Amino acid sequence: MPSPLRLGIAGLGTVGTGVVRIVQRQAALLQARTGREIVISAVSARTRDRDRGVRLSDYAWEDDPVALATRDDVDVFVELMGGSDGPAKAATEAALKAGKDVVTANKALLAMHGQALAEMAEEAGLSIRYEAAVAGGIPCIKALSEGLSGNEITRVMGVMNGTCNYILTRMQAAHLDYQTVFAECEELGYLEADPTLDVGGIDAGHKLALLVALAFGTKVDFNALTIEGIERVTIEDIEQAADMGYRIKLLGVAQTTGRGVDARMTPCLVPAASPLGQLEGPTNMIVLEGDSVGQIVLRGAGAGEGPTASAVIADVADLARGFRLPVFGQRAASLRLGERANNASPAAYYLRMALVDKPGALAKIATVLGDAGVSIDRMRQYGHEAATAPVLIVTHKTQQEALAMALEALSSTEVLASEPVALRIEEV
Ligand code: HSE
Repeated sequence: MPSPLRLGIAGLGTVGTGVVRIVQRQAALLQARTGREIVISAVSARTRDRDRGVRLSDYAWEDDPVALATRDDVDVFVELMGGSDGPAKAATEAALKAGKDVVTANKALLAMHGQALAEMAEEAGLSIRYEAAVAGGIPCIKALSEGLSGNEITRVMGVMNGTCNYILTRMQAAHLDYQTVFAECEELGYLEADPTLDVGGIDAGHKLALLVALAFGTKVDFNALTIEGIERVTIEDIEQAADMGYRIKLLGVAQTTGRGVDARMTPCLVPAASPLGQLEGPTNMIVLEGDSVGQIVLRGAGAGEGPTASAVIADVADLARGFRLPVFGQRAASLRLGERANNASPAAYYLRMALVDKPGALAKIATVLGDAGVSIDRMRQYGHEAATAPVLIVTHKTQQEALAMALEALSSTEVLASEPVALRIEEV
């Protein structure tokens, strides 16, 4: 009979508590599936005296996560504290030094230090698993690193922050502006302690950085991504886009181009009828495209106790089976330094601008766009107000550089009554 796999769990918030619950409730099923008993030796959290609704009395308690990570009776350090540095990083490094495998839900830690941690783990013959770090319960890490290992990945897309998708879909459904829905989210406790992580696109960017490394065999490089949050998305744009058959999503896209990988997490328009366009509320979606498999769409809960703990347990189960993959799908030492080709892939754009309502204004706009090589696909003037004329333009596919040139030229024409809005339309 193989010996039990012994866990040390650091962090007993929503996810940590969920992991304890599954280990207790599904002990027989996990043993049947992995061939080993999975047990918890010790736990650690900031506060000890809190009723978490699970029995913890059978486990040793450590105040210090580093002490937990290095205990002799711990085989796998389960890091569920969060944070890119501080105790999470110190305890993860200590665990690896002490010869423990690591399972983590910490996207920030891996997005910032993934390469160094992966090298450290692999040099020691250890594993770092992080299914729960990206899109909660959706097994997208497994899909990429195992299910699609025979494919050259051409594009990865996804809605990876449930809070942002909730805000955008709630704005549209209830005809509310961004500030009102943001305040509702604060009230409901839907936002991370630092809300910029959610609405600034950073949490989703951390997740995309991990998918990029896995998909394209490059070193994790969060700073190589173009990131823009949803703070400037207006109800007017959501409604105008809807009127033209689109939805606005905080969309992560990473794709290969002739010049390197173009990777961005930005608000984009997607067709309303597409799976991404139809994604409502806090649900996440990951779309993977490979040269042999074509397109795969994975949809599910991106956060919450059950879904995230489910992903953590899947990693624990693999370790119990003795299954160790390289952290980013191939040896960390063999990952390339990614070449940045941000905004290199052409796209159609949605433009909204308020024109000063005088003869020739529209003609001027058309000329400036034409001079920059940006071709107009659709154009319409709507909701005429006293002195300004709102105009919507959908361009044909263009390079972002040409569009940036046109917007720059537009700013000195004196026909714009306010800053124009430009959003990429993603073909999905
Ligand atoms: N705050 C995140 C979200 C969950 O809303 O999706 C964990 O990354």
